Amino acid sequence: MIPVTQPFLPPKDEYDHLISRLWDSKWLTNNGVYVRQLEEELEEYLNVPSCYYVGNGTIALQLAIQSLKLKNEIITTPFSFVATTTSILWENCEPVFVDIDPNTLCIDPNKIEEAITSNTEAILATHVYGIPCDVERIEEIAKKHHLKVIYDAAHAFGVRYKGESLLQFGDISTLSFHATKPFHTVEGGAIINNMGERVDNQIALLRSFGFRGDDYVTAGINAKNSEFHAAMGLCNLKYIDDIITNRKKTSETYDTLLENRVERPFISGDVQYNYAYYPVIFETEEELLHAKSQLENNDIESRRYFYPSLNTMTYLKNTISCPISEDMARRILCLPLFSGLNDEDVERIANIIIGEKINEFAHNRRSRLHRV
Ligand SMILES: Cc1ncc(COP(=O)(O)O)c(C=O)c1O
Repeated sequence: MIPVTQPFLPPKDEYDHLISRLWDSKWLTNNGVYVRQLEEELEEYLNVPSCYYVGNGTIALQLAIQSLKLKNEIITTPFSFVATTTSILWENCEPVFVDIDPNTLCIDPNKIEEAITSNTEAILATHVYGIPCDVERIEEIAKKHHLKVIYDAAHAFGVRYKGESLLQFGDISTLSFHATKPFHTVEGGAIINNMGERVDNQIALLRSFGFRGDDYVTAGINAKNSEFHAAMGLCNLKYIDDIITNRKKTSETYDTLLENRVERPFISGDVQYNYAYYPVIFETEEELLHAKSQLENNDIESRRYFYPSLNTMTYLKNTISCPISEDMARRILCLPLFSGLNDEDVERIANIIIGEKINEFAHNRRSRLHRV
């Protein structure tokens, strides 16, 4: 079976070495040595002013919303993982969906202003597959309308835009370090705050039950992560450049094999990409479903990511139509991509996709001839 993703694991002895120290210190959680070291190393690697390591990428989003004290409408993207929307709902805010740019698949900045009302407080946008949103236009709009900007950067670890860390844009960015991500700590996430000390203090407080010493200052939550998770992060961080290089190589092999056969999201030359996913866009949902089942018949996993479009979730109070996102969600499929996926398997996968395209072409041609 070829999985759609597979976690990177560091040499076992490197993890064992760090973990064995915990048997001496017996400090397993609550802002221990490894958590603090990981935060420092991440700040340096990502070139960001402050990084708060938390339990996962979903709680990072919730804390971002809480720490900015948002309570009303948040403009957001319908093309993302479900946690982008549910974190807004869990914070009792109202998601207002704005359709996506068909090229980058990120929120379309040209459609944001028409969705702004007197209740709008923020924009929460996702750098989909690690492809940057139009951060400059979003900043312009946010300034003009006095809105906060949160980026769900769960996919964007290590991405640079015009030579700068993508995480330097917006007021806050959140990361996921789930095992499926290029950089992971098994479970985990982080909040990157660009707003300075006041918000730093708020995040630190909220992450740890809202108390400082013996003072219960605010209603916080337990968003901490453990020394075991942080130790995995410290081990994996040493390999992240190699991991990204491997993923780049595999993606380029797919690119060569699939050239002109499938549509792909657009990534501008200003982006230093992290190769977090390899999504391909089919002409129709039917074609996608054929390809997916052919892959399955060959013991190859693929993932409809993201499907369905988040604006269509049945538990939402208001339905807003987002035709581009809905169409894209029906036609996009992520192919296997992970460190250690070999070229022969990539070729097998690409041949199945191409085979499907050829079959589809032949089928369309036959039915056209038949009609004639
Ligand atoms: C875009 C996006 N946001 C948020 C999350 C949630 O992250 P976590 O699984 O660490 O809670 C994910 C997870 O895959 C994601 O892809």
